[in-house]
Amino acid sequence: EVILPFGLLKDVDILLKRHLSQKSTKGAVSNSSISRADDILGNQEASYDQPEPPISATKERILRQKSLELCDRQQEWQDSPEGQKMLEFRRSLPAYQEREILLKAISKNQVVVISGETGCGKTTQVPQYILESEIEAARGASCNIICTQPRRISAMSVSERVAAERGEQIGESVGYKVRLEGMKGRDTRLLFCTTGVLLRRLLVDRNLRGVSHVIVDEIHERGMNEDFLLIVLKDLLPHRPDLRLILMSATLNAELFSSYFRGAPMLHIPGFTYPVRAHFLENILEMTGYRLTSYNQIDDYGQEKAWKMQKQTLRKRKSQIASAVEDAVEAADFSDYSHRTQESLSCWNPDSIGFNLIEHVLCYICKNERPGAVLVFMTGWEDINTLKDQLQAHPLLGDPSRVLLLACHGSMASSEQRLIFNRPPDGVRKILLATNMAETSITINDVVFVVDCGKAKETSYDALNNTPCLLPTWISKASARQRRGRAGRVQPGDCYHLYPRCVYDAFTDYQLPELLRTPLQSLCLQIKSLQLGGISEFLSKALQPPESLSVQNAIDYLKTIGALDERENLTVLGRHLSMLPVEPKLGKMLILGAIFKCLDPIMTVVAGLSVRDPFLMPYDKKDLAESAKAQFSAREFSDHLAVVRAYEGWKCAERQQSGYEYCWTNFLSAQTLKAIDSLRKQFFYLLKDTGLVDLDKESCNMWSHDQHLVRAIICAGLFPGVCSAVEPEIPYPWLVFNDKVKVNAVFLRDSTAVSDSAMLLFGGRISRGGLDGHLKMLGGYLEFFMKPELANIYLSIKQELDELVLSK
Ligand code: CDP
Ligand code: MG
Repeated sequence: EVILPFGLLKDVDILLKRHLSQKSTKGAVSNSSISRADDILGNQEASYDQPEPPISATKERILRQKSLELCDRQQEWQDSPEGQKMLEFRRSLPAYQEREILLKAISKNQVVVISGETGCGKTTQVPQYILESEIEAARGASCNIICTQPRRISAMSVSERVAAERGEQIGESVGYKVRLEGMKGRDTRLLFCTTGVLLRRLLVDRNLRGVSHVIVDEIHERGMNEDFLLIVLKDLLPHRPDLRLILMSATLNAELFSSYFRGAPMLHIPGFTYPVRAHFLENILEMTGYRLTSYNQIDDYGQEKAWKMQKQTLRKRKSQIASAVEDAVEAADFSDYSHRTQESLSCWNPDSIGFNLIEHVLCYICKNERPGAVLVFMTGWEDINTLKDQLQAHPLLGDPSRVLLLACHGSMASSEQRLIFNRPPDGVRKILLATNMAETSITINDVVFVVDCGKAKETSYDALNNTPCLLPTWISKASARQRRGRAGRVQPGDCYHLYPRCVYDAFTDYQLPELLRTPLQSLCLQIKSLQLGGISEFLSKALQPPESLSVQNAIDYLKTIGALDERENLTVLGRHLSMLPVEPKLGKMLILGAIFKCLDPIMTVVAGLSVRDPFLMPYDKKDLAESAKAQFSAREFSDHLAVVRAYEGWKCAERQQSGYEYCWTNFLSAQTLKAIDSLRKQFFYLLKDTGLVDLDKESCNMWSHDQHLVRAIICAGLFPGVCSAVEPEIPYPWLVFNDKVKVNAVFLRDSTAVSDSAMLLFGGRISRGGLDGHLKMLGGYLEFFMKPELANIYLSIKQELDELVLSK
């Protein structure tokens, strides 16, 4: 690997800095990430405040008066007939039995861990018990309870529910706050918010002034925000001895949290659920009589499979579907649930088997089963919508007099939310299509049947933006059990797992905490952008810290690519990278692609690298497949540009309704191409949100046809992954690569050949002494390209660089 002294990174830093200041003076993008980036400019760390001054006698009198009013109002509601009815319901929940024990433990200990089955009343009751007891003790006006939820929808629906249980409108004593939205009044004493909202408050108010209780809900999910929050709160506790911290979780690994907080007491709310029968794909197919009738339908099982099955499968089995199951299972290597295994598991892809099979199972339930609502776990909003459209066209499932079909998702309107909890009229079956948020955070009482596709989109690391992460992955055994459990709330239930038993056996026991599955480089950027102090020091305080050597490697890498400066502060480039939910090197490509107006091909390259190679390499047709790929890559000397060409060709073919044939003849996976397509759309909106592309699609693609420029941007992203190319037929002296793999020799994965000039200008950083030479090179580069558009960018950079040189 060669580290060259020149490069364009500093220049880009300057460009981005100017971009930031222009945006903020214009004020045009008030809600975008740019303004968020602006409030965290400066890299300084938040510090603990002085203790609060004592309250004046007058203020104390007012507070007391208000507390008494609150107490009267609460009593009045509880004595009313509606209030009585509500109390009766609340007293039927398992949590009620533990009310006094819970309250006592909370008042006696700074930290308490509470666990209990989903639906036992943790989220709606525990915060309310605290509020009620404070009000009863005439401290109502001075208490301030914050309860965090991992998702917007639960923060909103729970606050509404709790307000209703207290006979109030939302925004009175109970409110909520999620990103860009909230209902909170001056007298709100119990606030439900997303974890991200509390993290942001901690940025400006490290002491959580005036807060009396913090309740962190759903900690078993081990989301990154929650793990982050726990580190910050743990640091805060000694500074705020009066603050109470309550951790709540559905499943039982309370010990972990308890020992993290020096043996905090654990309380369990015992609950009761009915048994649920689990059906795996083998029995489901037999039971429901699902049959594949044509070869095309086999393609439902993922194109990769189709190649293999063509030869073996069709002839030898009595039932085609049974063999498809076996094949998929055979092809997957379940010995170790690593990244690699995930890839091989992908040949058993529920996204693609999904829709017809789900429709079939739903039909089966509607025709043959006892009454009861059906909850279907899907991976994401897009899937849910597509399936909903398909089901609506079905004669039985789409008939509103027989089926009430509802989608359930984080960003839906609250009027639609309420429908989810309502019971449908007799004779109408409710079918809910939901994401994994229905696993624990919301409870729907009439569910008797669960259909589980086995995958979920993992939540993202992006704490500030809360952007959903992009790829669906297999769930854990704990999640599968949790999903199954949803069917046993009111009577014995049935769960249909749409994957073979052995796939279930290959699931991990618990999902790895998000903090440990998030790429460390991205995580380090996040810590800096949230101003949480030194990276290594901060991470060492986590519940399950990552290894320190890997942390150091990540920091060094971030310095090399110019995202952190020598003192580990975020550079402007680093700040932008922290807002994009992709690896830093890919983020850098996207940013440069936007600045240099060649966005389309760069988005395809980045999407391709984040999903997987769309080129298929079936074992028995390796030669054919390789020559098919060579058609795309040979001329370009680039795996990355091959993906760009293949994608462009596919888009073209799709428009002529011949996408399928195109994939077939070129050994491409339509499924992967579709995933790339959807990622590209997400990238575009993200970049638009950060304000880097505020133009229309055309103008961000002014130079997209210029493969020299595209190559140079790929080089900037993949640097320092460089080696010199010795193959005589390659006209370029350098190869930049995405990955090095050591098998028996070292192999480079995904490489692109690049020229000297691209390497000099886009690879690495400028050294101090190198400015002059760098400027000369820029001149040469400009001539080389003869691009007035680029010339303008460079001229302005040059001016700034000149000033920089003069000021030094
Ligand atoms: O947090 P946990 O899973 O322990 O339960 P919860 O969310 O507090 O819900 C307790 C009970 O309140 C559920 O079993 C539902 O019956 C009811 N509930 C409701 O009727 N409407 C809501 N929006 C939320 C909860
Ligand atoms: Mg809950």
